[in-house]
Amino acid sequence: MAASDPLVDAARRARKNAHAAFSKFKVGAALEAADGTIITGCNIENATYGLTVCAERVAMFKALSEGHRRFRRIAVVADTADPTPPCGPCRQILWEFGGDLEVVLANLRTEKGRHRLSALLPLPFDARLLK
Ligand code: THU
Repeated sequence: MAASDPLVDAARRARKNAHAAFSKFKVGAALEAADGTIITGCNIENATYGLTVCAERVAMFKALSEGHRRFRRIAVVADTADPTPPCGPCRQILWEFGGDLEVVLANLRTEKGRHRLSALLPLPFDARLLK
């Protein structure tokens, strides 16, 4: 059996901090910066629902606020048989700040797939088009 990926393990640990009082759907994310630093996030829900922030964006905004600017991979973990890929808004934010990341999807037990972000967000709008 393949050794577990430390990035996936970090996402599993972060998931335990999720504030998912409304959906009960807890998600953990872990972002690997270019220097190897791992920055984690979990989803944080809110009584108005619409202000909910996904685990992936929490991880990215934490990383940016700590000065990281280049990234290699992100792992996303939920307690589901099917993988939990990043939602549309998260794909946009990950693309803008992380570029063509490797996206590792997993549940609590096993890995469920690896994708390039460019495959999950084809034909993206980004700053290169703001001319
Ligand atoms: N959620 C994430 O944190 N990441 C995803 O990739 C999918 C969805 C959260 C948002 C909300 O708190 C809950 O999961 C249900 O949609």
